[in-house]
Amino acid sequence: DFAPANHRPLYGRRILITAGPTHEPIDPVRYIANRSSGKQGFAIAAAAAEAGAEVLLIAGPVPLPTPPGVIRVDVETAVEMAAEVAEGLPVDAAVMVAAVADWRAADTAVQKIKKDGSGAVPPLALAENPDILAGLAKSPDRPKLLIGFAAETNDVIPHAQAKLARKGCDWIVANDVSADPMGGESNRVHIVSKDGVDSWDRLPKQAVARKLMEKIADELDTRAP
Ligand code: CTP
Ligand code: CA
Repeated sequence: DFAPANHRPLYGRRILITAGPTHEPIDPVRYIANRSSGKQGFAIAAAAAEAGAEVLLIAGPVPLPTPPGVIRVDVETAVEMAAEVAEGLPVDAAVMVAAVADWRAADTAVQKIKKDGSGAVPPLALAENPDILAGLAKSPDRPKLLIGFAAETNDVIPHAQAKLARKGCDWIVANDVSADPMGGESNRVHIVSKDGVDSWDRLPKQAVARKLMEKIADELDTRAP
């Protein structure tokens, strides 16, 4: 819209968003990844900037253009994403949309791992990645409003409620990926908080993003007018 900047609902707010997958190297030519397209996170960053916020987008490797007005920092791995998130604080709200790889290769080979001709497979030991969202929830710089995303295939709301408690965030945006596979153009989401569940219709990702920004603006205004 064409409202003057200081009339926009998130004017003066600083918002951090993570988006996309992470890539966890095995050797110089191979990595562990997942199917996140980054589209929902980038749409949320675009909507936050349109709503007048100062937006810091920490993006995993995705071939998407930077939305207008958004400051973007590209990362590869979960460990790099965690460091850039810490660097971006303090913020009023953080929306953790990234599909952070849960595990990385315990050791990254400096050279390409080669077949030795015997048919033996290389051992692939994994190490757990830092939980960026849970870490932020415990940090002295915890944002006033901390939001996680969860893609679930089954028992969407109970899983989201358990995640809300486990992560220590304020809302979980639970995304039913049985209805809309990851990488698609729309999402059916449920906003799960201690106050209950707000279920939205299946919507294009841009509409989910705009509706979420309205809800965030209302919540921030309620907490600190
Ligand atoms: N998340 C994170 N750092 C991680 C893993 C997840 O910040 N290492 C964040 C995601 O960005 C998301 C939320 O935590 O906002 C939930 O991610 P999800 O993968 O659903 O949660 P997990 O605790 O990893 O549980 P699961 O076993 O279902 O993958
Ligand atoms: Ca996970």
